[in-house]
Amino acid sequence: VSTTELSYSALHPVDRPRIHHLRAAVTRHVPVGTDHAHLELSAPAIAAEARPGQFVMITVARDGQDTPVLPRPMAIYSIDRAAGVIGIVYTVRGRGTKALRGFAPGEAALHVVGPLGRGFDVPEIPSRVLLVGRGIGVCSLTTVAQCAVPGTEVLALTSARHTGALVGAEIYRSSGATLLEVTDEAGDSAPERVERELLNRLDARPPELIFTCGSNRLATLCQRLAARWGARAQVSLEAHMACGLGYCHGCATAGAVAAGESPLVCQDGPVFVIDPPAPTVSRSSIPR
Ligand SMILES: Cc1cc2nc3c(=O)[nH]c(=O)nc-3n(C[C@H](O)[C@H](O)[C@H](O)COP(=O)(O)OP(=O)(O)OC[C@H]3O[C@@H](n4cnc5c(N)ncnc54)[C@H](O)[C@@H]3O)c2cc1C
Ligand code: FES
Repeated sequence: VSTTELSYSALHPVDRPRIHHLRAAVTRHVPVGTDHAHLELSAPAIAAEARPGQFVMITVARDGQDTPVLPRPMAIYSIDRAAGVIGIVYTVRGRGTKALRGFAPGEAALHVVGPLGRGFDVPEIPSRVLLVGRGIGVCSLTTVAQCAVPGTEVLALTSARHTGALVGAEIYRSSGATLLEVTDEAGDSAPERVERELLNRLDARPPELIFTCGSNRLATLCQRLAARWGARAQVSLEAHMACGLGYCHGCATAGAVAAGESPLVCQDGPVFVIDPPAPTVSRSSIPR
């Protein structure tokens, strides 16, 4: 299976989550490492119902401004139900995220819609979970550790180009997860190295669930490990989104799914089941 040949299936259908549209005050806005920022928003209705792996759409135009028109999708990085606060961690890429960076604590100007999408299929009984995330993709995985039922064993691998770009350590540590950080800079982030490390640590007592986001190569590795260990693997996909609500069809997964109409990343995902690897046909089994 090459990195471009992963195939995905939609998770079993569930009731569409209740979606809230609110104006959220910024309660905290701080830099994270060298590349990212952590924004916390007062959004009690969303915090109350958000599930691991879901996201929000944030409109960054200020009152009286009409651009940027389209909201930007952001994974829910942390959930504090008691305080009614959700956190996101983001990288400045273009116009929308640059505008987002300008919002200071106390401002109540952000329109937020959520929680959106199908999150990870997290069991309500203790289990062994492996989280494999790269770059900003880690933000879709952190709430799995944060919301895990007591007794759940989580190993969280985070990968990035360099140390300053690593995400998630704080939330993983405070959730009791075992953290494994790898970087291109340190030379330990190549999938073969990661695979050796994970086999060393987990082969004797493998996880039942593997969740991943942020790298196709790591998703392929997760597919292979899931097949070896008999684990279930799920991936959170990214797509350009205009509405986040299932209306515009701009986020269809195109050829990624074998049968039926292409699922929408915003509505049927962003989390999908990673199908098992296609069986390999050995030369000796080819009929002559
Ligand atoms: C479900 C979901 C969850 C996400 N969670 C996060 C998150 O937690 N933190 C975070 O920083 N980002 C996240 N993203 C990506 C984020 O939405 C984009 O980076 C953001 O919309 C860029 O907006 P912009 O106006 O700054 O950049 P634009 O000016 O719109 O684009 C700047 C550059 O980024 C690229 N880009 C824009 N949107 C995407 C996208 N969705 N995927 C890949 N490339 C894109 C464009 O092609 C362009 O090259 C998520 C995306 C999805 C779909
Ligand atoms: S973003 Fe509009 S349908 Fe998915």
